[in-house]
Amino acid sequence: MKTIIEPFRIKAVEPIRMTTREERREKLAAANHNVFTLASDDVLIDLLTDSGTGAMSSEQWAAIMRGDESYAGSPSFERFQAAIRNLMPFDHIIPTHQGRAAEAILFSILGGPGKNFPSNTHFDTTRGNIEAGGARGHDLLIDEGKDPANLHPFKGNMDLEKLENYLQEHGDSVPCVMLTITNNAGGGQPVSLENIHAVAKIAHAHGRPFIIDGCRFAENAWFIKQREKGQQDRSIPDIVRDCFSVADGMTMSAKKDAFANIGGWLALNDPELAELARARLIQTEGFPTYGGLAGRDLDAIAQGLTEIVDDDYLRYRIRTNEYIIERLDALGIPVVKPAGGHAVFIDAKAWLPHIPPLEYPGYSVAAALYEIGGIRCAEIGSVMFGRQPDGSEKPAMMELVRMAIPRRTYTQSHADYIVECFAELAAKKDSLRGYRITWEPKLMRHFTCRFEPLG
Ligand code: F0G
Repeated sequence: MKTIIEPFRIKAVEPIRMTTREERREKLAAANHNVFTLASDDVLIDLLTDSGTGAMSSEQWAAIMRGDESYAGSPSFERFQAAIRNLMPFDHIIPTHQGRAAEAILFSILGGPGKNFPSNTHFDTTRGNIEAGGARGHDLLIDEGKDPANLHPFKGNMDLEKLENYLQEHGDSVPCVMLTITNNAGGGQPVSLENIHAVAKIAHAHGRPFIIDGCRFAENAWFIKQREKGQQDRSIPDIVRDCFSVADGMTMSAKKDAFANIGGWLALNDPELAELARARLIQTEGFPTYGGLAGRDLDAIAQGLTEIVDDDYLRYRIRTNEYIIERLDALGIPVVKPAGGHAVFIDAKAWLPHIPPLEYPGYSVAAALYEIGGIRCAEIGSVMFGRQPDGSEKPAMMELVRMAIPRRTYTQSHADYIVECFAELAAKKDSLRGYRITWEPKLMRHFTCRFEPLG
């Protein structure tokens, strides 16, 4: 059969409140033209993030009922730990309420002034946690990963030569080497198994631990199975174990590839580091057998981990992205290629050359998509990155629009609807205008700043 169907039936539905274009125009103006400040009730298809927005299975809801809320020694923790160790064989598993809490604990132990952390690309919260302690993070992505049109199969790979030079230059100031799989900030692009092993080897040759940010580990393993030579006959769990077997620890947001609405963990092999991490955990999150979570959350994650590595799920998951990208490409819309794991990225700078970067072309696409079809997506460009610490403003490296696809939440007809909205937008793209920011907070302005349309 040619059609790849959603490999599930729907037992519970969540109605979408339909709105008219006129209503949406009013809602957007009332939200000062910032899609982040819209009420989600006024959104038809919400593609702001794939984090915590997935649909849980009937088995996960059953697991929620099995959850044991004992303060210490809960069997839910045993199931959580066993499900993680089945895929990622680490000695110490430390539950946290989400990914950034695991990062905060890790960098409170390893970070501090004068320390340096390399990665392919640090995610925003990772970088934030590194910098909060006075350390610095550096991105050593291969050059192909910075070119939206380059068709390299593993655009999330680390540049090995740069890593080698980096470790020689920074020496003892590097507490660990990190790698984000898939590379979210670079378009959800995967890292090859070969690259993961090579990064581990270089880190270990320099006596440095190797830590994986594994948020989208299953999607990354699917790309390895599809795209990497000699991996086609292996099972996804087998590839996942191979990826993590060379690491000394991981940070994880269970809101992504564990199908949970909340949760995460920090895993480590070093017993001394683990002890420090648990002490910090007790101060900031909770007792070591629940972290910042309820017992029921631990059980939902344990069950989610058995479902995320399913071939039928991953085939459908990645195909959805490819499907949207192929159709947008056919409409002449510049998209980041090849398809990444969790999101579709549009290159707004290339698509709307008549809007200068500091009139926010990515934002213009996001606002127009909401008005046309009630679709909410995120600008990843000069609104997000333009304001500099010295108060000046400069254009970001790229003007992207991210449509993150929640897991098991939307159907094929939602995908067709998204494409249809883009077709309408493409027909009138030359009439789109830029925006001006009329008010912004001191930090993270994209969440709350106010806009005014130009022209
Ligand atoms: N690392 C990566 C690669 C991420 O994508 C995220 C979250 C985190 C860490 C932090 O995890 O949200 O559980 O604290 N990414 C979300 C996103 C927010 O929309 O891309 P968290």
